[in-house]
Amino acid sequence: MDFPMFHLDWLNDRFLIAAIAILHVFINHGLAVGFIPYITWLEQKGVEKGGKNQIVDLEWDNLIYKKMKVAFIITTTIGAMTGVGIWFSVALVSPASIGSLIRVFYWAWFTEWVVFVTEVVLILIYFLTWKNANTSLKAKLRHIKFGWFLSIFSWITMAIIVAILGFMMDPGNWNNNHTLLNGFTNPIYLPQLLFRTPTAMLVAGVFGMLLTTIFAPKGSEMIAKAIKYASKWIMVWTPLVIIGAVYYWNVMPSAMKDNMSTAVGSIEFSQYYNLLKYFIIGAASLSIILAVFAFLKPKKINFTYVIVPCLFVFGFLGIFERVREFIRKPYVIGGYMYSNLLREEDYPLYKKEGILKYATYTSVTEITDENKIQAGRDVFMNTCSRCHTTQGVNSITYVFERMYGFGKPLDENSMAAYIPNMHNGRTFMPPFPGNKKELNALVAYIKQLQQTGESLEGVQTSGVQINPLNSAVAVSKKIEETNKENDKKLTQK
Ligand code: HEC
Repeated sequence: MDFPMFHLDWLNDRFLIAAIAILHVFINHGLAVGFIPYITWLEQKGVEKGGKNQIVDLEWDNLIYKKMKVAFIITTTIGAMTGVGIWFSVALVSPASIGSLIRVFYWAWFTEWVVFVTEVVLILIYFLTWKNANTSLKAKLRHIKFGWFLSIFSWITMAIIVAILGFMMDPGNWNNNHTLLNGFTNPIYLPQLLFRTPTAMLVAGVFGMLLTTIFAPKGSEMIAKAIKYASKWIMVWTPLVIIGAVYYWNVMPSAMKDNMSTAVGSIEFSQYYNLLKYFIIGAASLSIILAVFAFLKPKKINFTYVIVPCLFVFGFLGIFERVREFIRKPYVIGGYMYSNLLREEDYPLYKKEGILKYATYTSVTEITDENKIQAGRDVFMNTCSRCHTTQGVNSITYVFERMYGFGKPLDENSMAAYIPNMHNGRTFMPPFPGNKKELNALVAYIKQLQQTGESLEGVQTSGVQINPLNSAVAVSKKIEETNKENDKKLTQK
């Protein structure tokens, strides 16, 4: 409405955000938040193993260094780029929601930036001074201290962002009183943080074990030791993942749980919901089984044993993110802004007078028989396009054909009867915000989409069209008219 609509008509806009965000979470949780404390802990073990004669067990230290090198390269390249990439993609696809979030969390984001820069500096120091630190015990211990500092800062960056993620799901008291503190202390924040923290540790432990099987000499005493440490790490954190998950589940509003079946897959796969739930439980059990087996028979463990649980825990993390993003629907900010970027409190006005009149970017404001299709396109862009494409993923013609029969011409009356009630049956969709004329224009447009197979271009290719009521010409005309009227009044006096 207030921003030009970027739109990917084949891929679906949601997918762009999801692909970048999920990759980022893998790296952030698996290679930073969970991995750095794991590496620091292992580095410390190297000093303990070194005994009296040497500062550190050098062979061991080199193994841990190699693991850290992987984390260093990935976090400072793909990790940092996807981190910034999330904000770029979200600002493109969902600018109004980011606008609101920045207003609420301005100081939190500012702090985040400072903490993030500190984290980057610390990771540079930690990795690049590793070898030099091996020259004296004092330097080595200081280096380990840096590792712990880095661990704390990585965790804080996550802890701030999780407040915003929790807020989007359920802003709690903020909806009554718009303060940063109310936003920060939203009811889902703490449970989600208590779930994410051990989950990050678990993912890091399993991934760390995988790296050990790659870097350590096969069948050596060292590999056995390193595998054993990883298995202890996994055994400690996995129960906390389960406790965190239960706590998190219990604070989730029931409206969100109702969305769960579609969230895990899609409508077509909703009957497999239980199967996928067991897949998630499977990831936790598989990690425990791996950890116990690795603890008892560390020399037996090789890459093949670890890769499957590793894929499972990453898969579990990916599904968790997808579900979290989905179950919040129809809202992008619970109880405040719908996922179509329209605020709930503006709905009564839109329903009465229509949305096009208030849209900044639309080519039509008054619907006539001639511009009906064009108007329908603008209505679609402003009310459906954040989740539906015209011919690609989750396409609007496809979802209607699935309801009314594939290959049959769509019936405008049936669609016009369905859309005003769609949010009742499918609670993840926001109510239709427009008026009667706009509804009719929308269904005419959808019918035309089916007939012609045409697709919809986002502003990145089509360019912007400003609401004719707000154009420079219209506004200057308005000013001119007001001036004339004022002049008239003056001369009459
Ligand atoms: C917040 C995102 C969102 C918005 C906005 C949205 N939809 Fe949907 N819609 C979905 C999802 C998700 C599905 C389910 C797709 C699946 O799983 O197959 C869906 C399904 C549908 C279906 C099929 C329902 C069924 O029971 O099979 C129709 C029809 C539909 N949408 C129409 C619309 C129209 C028209 C608009 C705009 C006025 C709209 N939607 C806006 C997310 C949305």
